[in-house]
Formats: sequence, structure tokens, C-alpha cells
Amino acid sequence: MSRNFHVAIVGATGAVGVEMIKTLEKRAFPVGRLTLLASAKSAGKTLQFRGEQVVIQELREDSFDGVDIALFSAGGGISLKFAPLAVKCGAIVVDNSSAFRMDPDVPLVIPEINAADIKKNRGIIANPNCTTAVTLMALHPLHQEFRVKRIFASSYQAVSGTGAQAIEELRAQVAAITAGQPAENKVYPHQIAFNDLPHVDTFLETGYTKEEMKMQNEGRRIMHHPTFKASVTCVRVPVYRAHSVAVSAEFERPVSLNGARVVLGRAPGLDVVDDPSKFEYPLPLSAAEQDNCQVGRLRLDCALDNGLAFWVSGDQLLKGAALNAVQIAEYL
Ligand SMILES: NC(=O)c1ccc[n+]([C@@H]2O[C@H](COP(=O)([O-])OP(=O)(O)OC[C@H]3O[C@@H](n4cnc5c(N)ncnc54)[C@H](OP(=O)(O)O)[C@@H]3O)[C@@H](O)[C@H]2O)c1
Repeated sequence: MSRNFHVAIVGATGAVGVEMIKTLEKRAFPVGRLTLLASAKSAGKTLQFRGEQVVIQELREDSFDGVDIALFSAGGGISLKFAPLAVKCGAIVVDNSSAFRMDPDVPLVIPEINAADIKKNRGIIANPNCTTAVTLMALHPLHQEFRVKRIFASSYQAVSGTGAQAIEELRAQVAAITAGQPAENKVYPHQIAFNDLPHVDTFLETGYTKEEMKMQNEGRRIMHHPTFKASVTCVRVPVYRAHSVAVSAEFERPVSLNGARVVLGRAPGLDVVDDPSKFEYPLPLSAAEQDNCQVGRLRLDCALDNGLAFWVSGDQLLKGAALNAVQIAEYL
């Protein structure tokens, strides 16, 4: 029996929202009706879905009447307020914000890793942090074979991870600087063009940022691995799309390079791109707009026992957000 669903996208005009629309269309999700929701400033504008213009509506408390599945990507505050209202109206929510990710009653899911957790939902399912999602696509298959103890990692995060305004800020700064004009920064505390910012999300008392701790906290939940440890430095780089992460992972069991290649080669949603002699390794430019993440630069880590170093790139707007959300909706 096939059925068509009434799907709502909250934050439809955002960097993630527009990818959700495209992903629903590309994967031929059985959408009977699509409701696009955003702030008052976008109400009345249109976005295209399956060749038709859909009018954007202002998000309101009564926006979810008759909605079966609500995909949220409008920030944590909006999710906290409106996701429970959507559930009350009978919708199942897939939430992209960090609002519910550590709530024990809310499954936190990457379908390739812990799809079975989706069944435990009480109306809300959380999508993981985008850097964590991209990293775990490579780390989890290795963990299944070699049992990961801890990782040390540095991220190289694209500006689209901050949203539509940050994409515009990088464009404007590049244009200004190449024209010999001063660059303005509003979204980031420093110029992002031709720069790297070792600062993603807010700082904690420990000196780590919230973003950096998501790898350990969310990794533990998704991999069902409560003692997993991750020391991460998150860096914003002047790349438009696709995050990359340099990872050194230490395992309980001895790791071999061939064994790692075999495991990664058969992992779903992941391509091994690893022939440095031909200049082949994952790049944000080749991972952008691709569903699969890419892993490469595989080598035995020279500073860790049972260690493997690797580099993973993935489109955080897709696997780190829209694609993962639609995959969860497909399971539903
Ligand atoms: N970007 C990523 O790679 C990524 C990855 C994973 C998770 N996320 C999460 O996804 C969410 C959205 O991120 P984004 O990058 O798409 O941000 P964005 O480009 O800034 O888009 C924000 C969206 O939220 C809407 N919005 C803002 N205030 C609203 C309000 N009061 N009522 C209704 N809608 C409102 C905006 O509508 P208007 O256009 O009308 O203002 C827009 O559609 C965030 O929670 C973020 O943490 C993002």
C-alpha cells in the first residue's frame, strides 16, 4: 500500500530548508502536500517543488493541522517552541537543531548507523550535528571492526554550516577585498575570507566550544558507546559548502590498513577516495552536492597505539542535515 504524506518544512528559505525541498524531490519522497514555513518576512514568497511554485507561509501555532511529517530547520528556539505543538497536532518531527539532541526521550539518528532507534520516538527524532555526522560516517564502520576508544580531530567547516547569511558574508568579503575595498563582518567575529577561525559555536568554561563537544556527546548516543572520547578543535574555513575533518583514532583492537580499507569500502553512504599518488583524496569541492561522504588519506597513526589517521569530507547541508532528515522520514 502506498500513501502520500503531508510534509511541512519549517525554515524552508534557509540554507538547509532549500536542500530539504530539493532532496524530497530528488528522492521522490511520497509528498501529497507540501507546506513551506518561515518567518513573516518570507510569507507570500514562493519556492519551486516538482515544477510548481509553493507559497511560503508564516510559521504559526496552527501551522501543523493535518501535517504528517514536519522537518524543522529554523534554529533551536523555534524547535523548542513549535516541535511539541506539531507533535500535539499528530505530526512526527525530524529536528535539525541541537534543541533535543541530548534528550534521552528523543532518538538521535544517522540511519546508516542506528536506524533501529527511530522506532523509540515519541514524536520527535533529532538529526545530529553536521560535523559529527560527517565524521561518524567513516568512524562508525571502523568502530564496528576495531572498537574505537578515542579520537583527536580538527574540523574544516564551510560557511554554509552557519546559514544563508554566512554564505553571503563570504561572497561579499571576497568581492570587496579583490576590489581593494575593506571587508565588513557581521556574522563572524573576524573576517572569514582568506582566513581561518578556530571558533565554531560558543565557548564553554573548559575552553572547548559547544560544537567541539558535540562529537563526543552525540557520538556516544549514536554509536551506543558511552565511553567514547573525542578531543576536537573546530575551525571555520572560507569554503562555501562541505565540511572536512582530520581524524586520528585510537582503537582497542589492532588496526591494519588493508582491514580499514575493506571496512570503509563496504560502508553505506561512504566513498573511499584514497590514491595520493594520483592526487586523489576527499575535497570539499568534490564532496559538495553529493549524498555520499568521502574518506581518504588513510594511514597508520604514528603517534597512537592501534591508531588510524584519516581525512573525511561530506556535504553538511546534505548528510549533515537535509539528506539525513529525509532518510529518517523514509524510515518513518
Ligand atoms: N547549515 C547547516 O549546515 C546545518 C547543518 C545541520 C543543522 N543545521 C541547523 O538547521 C537550522 C537552520 O540552519 P540554516 O543553516 O538553514 O539557517 P538559515 O540559513 O539562517 O535559515 C534559517 C531559517 O529559519 C527561518 N526562521 C528564522 N526565524 C524564524 C521565525 N521566527 N519563524 C519562522 N522561521 C524562522 C528563516 O526564515 P526567513 O528566511 O523567513 O528568515 C530560514 O528559513 C539551525 O538550527 C542549524 O543549527 C544547519
